[in-house]
Amino acid sequence: MITETSAQDSVRAAAQIYNSAVASWAIAAAWELGALEELREHGKLDSSAFAAANDLDAASTYGMLRAMVAVGVLDRDGTVFAPAASFDEIYRTKSFFHWLSRGCSDLFTDMPAVLKNANRTGDFYNRDAAAISYACRDINAKCFDPAFWAAMEGLNGSFSVVADLGCGSGERLMQIAQRYPGVRCVGLDIAPAAIAAAESDRDKAGLTDRITFHQADVRAVDSLPELTEVDLLTCFMMGHDFWPRENCVATLRQLRERFPNVKKFLLGDATRTVGIPDSETPVFTLGFEVGHDMMGVYMPTMDEWDGVFAEAGWHLTKKHLIDALTASVVFELE
Ligand SMILES: C[S@@+](CC[C@H](N)C(=O)[O-])C[C@H]1O[C@@H](n2cnc3c(N)ncnc32)[C@H](O)[C@@H]1O
Repeated sequence: MITETSAQDSVRAAAQIYNSAVASWAIAAAWELGALEELREHGKLDSSAFAAANDLDAASTYGMLRAMVAVGVLDRDGTVFAPAASFDEIYRTKSFFHWLSRGCSDLFTDMPAVLKNANRTGDFYNRDAAAISYACRDINAKCFDPAFWAAMEGLNGSFSVVADLGCGSGERLMQIAQRYPGVRCVGLDIAPAAIAAAESDRDKAGLTDRITFHQADVRAVDSLPELTEVDLLTCFMMGHDFWPRENCVATLRQLRERFPNVKKFLLGDATRTVGIPDSETPVFTLGFEVGHDMMGVYMPTMDEWDGVFAEAGWHLTKKHLIDALTASVVFELE
């Protein structure tokens, strides 16, 4: 029997779902436009003043902030907005909203077409590589960097040329170059937009002579003389692109041939979750897993990763579990 209360509850629940969808876009935009930062630093933000100071449309700026009030991220008094109960958690997870709403918007918008088997050949979906790189910088900083830098420290500087596979924005290599002044770096990425953004940032950082970027599919990378000098490999948030299993084994084997002098390989990624009830899925996981299913990218579980290295000739020496991101890990391989 449907009672009046449960009918009202479901009306409210539907509104919350709808409002959350709008708020997800607003969170991503508010981060990119600097509004989240201003709210965090000053504890309040006047939408008219913020719009004027940043040459934004005043009504749309108000609407962006109001969307966050609707879902309890901000409070509002007239045109003045302030952090509410969930602001800190939203600030911590902002890059996951950005990944979804800005990086993967075309993929999710095209869901009906992407699901049709008849369409699933060639370039059947689109994502924004530059936006994904932007989000991944923050995802790295929050989630993977503590384990990554701990692993780097353990190497005691015993490397001179580093290659990053699926380098995205190139941020990891820029940080390595800045921390280790004698080291040279090579970044490989399949996406021209990511390479262009990485080259521009590298030049602005004054690292042009120490970092080179190449557009390449790392699953079938050509043997280049530059790669034979590499003694440290890194790869973050793209290892799942090596799968399914037999392809992953083949790629991991081929990497040993293309990079014959590599001593260490730091491989960090989110994996497919196991056993979490659908209603308790944490932030990012649902978008990440549904998104990769839509793209036809096999997403391995942690156990599947564990079982692949020995067969591909890599020795797993250490495994860092990532607290800040569900089912995520940095593997240290030799
Ligand atoms: C999620 S982003 C992560 C970027 C970067 N590693 C980071 O940690 O910020 C994944 C990157 O891998 C790149 N990528 C995906 N498949 C690839 C492939 N087969 N070869 C090279 N790059 C690839 C994408 O273009 C994208 O820039």
